[in-house]
Amino acid sequence: QKRPFGVIETYRDRLPMDGIDQIVTLGEGSTPLVPAPRLGAELDATVWIKVEGANPTGSFKDRGMTMAMTKALADGSKAVVCASTGNTSASAAAYASRAGMTPVVLLPQGKIAAGKLAQAVVHGGRIIQVLGNFDDCLRIARELADALPVSLVNSVNPYRIEGQKTAAFEIIDVLGDAPDIHALPVGNAGNITAYWKGYREYAADGPASHTPRMFGFQAAGAAPLVLGHDVDAPETVATAIRIGRPASGEKALAARDESEGLIDAVTDEQILNAQAFLAAREGIFVEPASAAGVAGLLKLKAQGRLDPGQRIVITVTGNGLKDIDTALSRTTLSTEAVEASTDRVAALLDFDS
Ligand code: F0G
Repeated sequence: QKRPFGVIETYRDRLPMDGIDQIVTLGEGSTPLVPAPRLGAELDATVWIKVEGANPTGSFKDRGMTMAMTKALADGSKAVVCASTGNTSASAAAYASRAGMTPVVLLPQGKIAAGKLAQAVVHGGRIIQVLGNFDDCLRIARELADALPVSLVNSVNPYRIEGQKTAAFEIIDVLGDAPDIHALPVGNAGNITAYWKGYREYAADGPASHTPRMFGFQAAGAAPLVLGHDVDAPETVATAIRIGRPASGEKALAARDESEGLIDAVTDEQILNAQAFLAAREGIFVEPASAAGVAGLLKLKAQGRLDPGQRIVITVTGNGLKDIDTALSRTTLSTEAVEASTDRVAALLDFDS
């Protein structure tokens, strides 16, 4: 194999490799950085979309999971545990099965998109639905990891952050330098922490001349970093970021301040409109939470808070196929079937010939 396989092989010089000989990977990373001219026209900017739904399990979590699972294996762990709004559990279950470890996943009951639940099931996760929200699940997962011989693979595990910072490297490797602004959704705040670390590292020793301003966006019903206090009962259609006590909240605020960026909130309606725009105008289908970065920039633009002519990268974090229920509930799918005749179909289409 000529090309490096997965983010660890690609960026091993920039990752903590002490004591590691066997890499757990599914070939994550190298995701498309797609130019988005229509969105760019709306924003009066040059825009690229980093499509993280193209990772093996359909979200950015795989970048961190390859590192966390590789480390857990090196440590001799037999089982891993995570709390999740869905994507972390999908990724943990896949990478654990790959590594021959047992994945234990704690999920807030009834609030997981069906595709993600299916992933955890087929990869053999020991799934425990908790009568509580993500924040309750994370507290329990941390306590379990302290008490039992299992490795915690949430993003409070520093190896997760190390793996996820590779997305910033890839962007600079493709564009030749850092963008002016990087926008992304914020939930538990691991990913904004990871990007900021990656951008700083590349700016410190060569590949980038500067770091971007980090623009994070939370869902309005789950926006503790915008409100300045925890949210006890977070609520949003973007279930992936339905989080009221972000574990890496302080680091997200540091990324915001050090980069002269911002963290703002977007409504569910703005999120769903952004999801629809990306799908219908740019050909990119993402899950609702993933559209928060796009929604946030459209909001800033409408408010006159976005200077023109900037180079902007927006991370869309998860694949639209994860949550088709939400997407389909917004469409008016014609349920009427038509006779198997070309004329009848053509008549229905009503195109000018
Ligand atoms: N987008 C998606 C699709 C996510 O699944 C998550 C987090 C985020 C954005 C936010 O990233 O937490 O690093 O700020 N999902 C976690 C999970 C919480 O359990 O899958 P973050």
